[in-house]
Amino acid sequence: MSFLSFHLPTYSPLSLGTIWGAAARSVLSARESAVGLSALLRDEYEADRVVLTGSGAQALQLAIEGAGGERADPRGGRPRVALPAFTCFEVASAAVGAGAEVVIYDVDPETLAPDPPSFRDAVGCGGVAAVVVSPLFGVPIEWSPLREIAEAAGVILIEDAAQGDGARWGGRRLGSMGDLSVLSFGRGKGWSGIRGGALLLRDPFGRRDFELERPPGVEDLSLAIAGVAQWGLGRPSLYRFPRSLPWLGLGETRWHDPTPPRSMARLGAALAVRSRAAAEAEVERRRENAAFYLERLRSLDGVEIVRVPEGGTPGYLRLPVRLPRGISGFGVRPAPLGIEAAYPRPISELPQLQPHIVNTDRAWPGAVELSRRLVTLPTHSRLTHHERLQVIDLVRRYGSSS
Ligand SMILES: Cc1ncc(COP(=O)(O)O)c(C=O)c1O
Repeated sequence: MSFLSFHLPTYSPLSLGTIWGAAARSVLSARESAVGLSALLRDEYEADRVVLTGSGAQALQLAIEGAGGERADPRGGRPRVALPAFTCFEVASAAVGAGAEVVIYDVDPETLAPDPPSFRDAVGCGGVAAVVVSPLFGVPIEWSPLREIAEAAGVILIEDAAQGDGARWGGRRLGSMGDLSVLSFGRGKGWSGIRGGALLLRDPFGRRDFELERPPGVEDLSLAIAGVAQWGLGRPSLYRFPRSLPWLGLGETRWHDPTPPRSMARLGAALAVRSRAAAEAEVERRRENAAFYLERLRSLDGVEIVRVPEGGTPGYLRLPVRLPRGISGFGVRPAPLGIEAAYPRPISELPQLQPHIVNTDRAWPGAVELSRRLVTLPTHSRLTHHERLQVIDLVRRYGSSS
């Protein structure tokens, strides 16, 4: 096999010029970027109010706390929130940070959407104030049935659109449909400020006050350094070295303890505003690359493509496919070209979350299957045409050897 490069699994377009321009802007006019980003999000994501936070996980923590305050259990006690069994570990961390009790529901491996009976059970579980729905890898979820179930039960629907950049359902952006919605501007989210998040509030939450601490001044400097590092790692010749050091844990999903919510750094907001047009162009490239893969993979034995619901336009942050033996079937570690496993286990198996779970007596077969079999293919624009063909070739060989 010819030499295979190592790519980041996702790419958020931030040029050195953008980083430099954003740094100058955030020094010269401290508030302008945050105000500009909030206004943009209010318009494009149909929000009444926007709270910019230090990360998507912090925004989700505020959402869970806010929902718990709005629908406080008359019996008192901690807020109760329903979470998907298969999602990013930061979702679990946000619930722990909010001091919530957690009810788990299962995920359908064919669509990555909530498994309907399991979702219904979780939402109907006594005392649940809110349910979090996390569309993954930019694959939209059929939203109306979930809204109906949540509304009938009087439960607040929190849309975690951290991975939803560029995706739509029924013409609306992911991030514009929840009672409360959450965005992430983390470094791998397509539209990035290196670190940061947003809580989007809609009535009756629009009037709620959130007093957040400002980040320390060094946060801007640390973001600038991280931005330049991220720019460098977008080059496979540079990424190869750190990616091959297992102790750095690149490409692994790890637990992070919750952090107290605070405001987004000025530089993060400036980066997000200035990279907006490039991020929008990148969505188109991701869709084209996903279409290129799908055309060639659809008919292969053993490759199961995640289904997009009618009315959905994916943003394909990565292209999720189910393969018989998951990432281990590639037989090389780490897998090259930005091919990555998804999440290694259901969040119900995280020791840090387990003491907070209410329905521990259940199994989550959809989530277990996804943690064993789901693999994501890189869709970003840094891949050359030759590298896209190499991705297809690797999956083809995998199919014939399993
Ligand atoms: C589905 C999902 N929700 C929430 C988050 C948290 O976002 P952040 O990394 O900005 O804290 C992430 C990030 O990885 C995510 O993938």
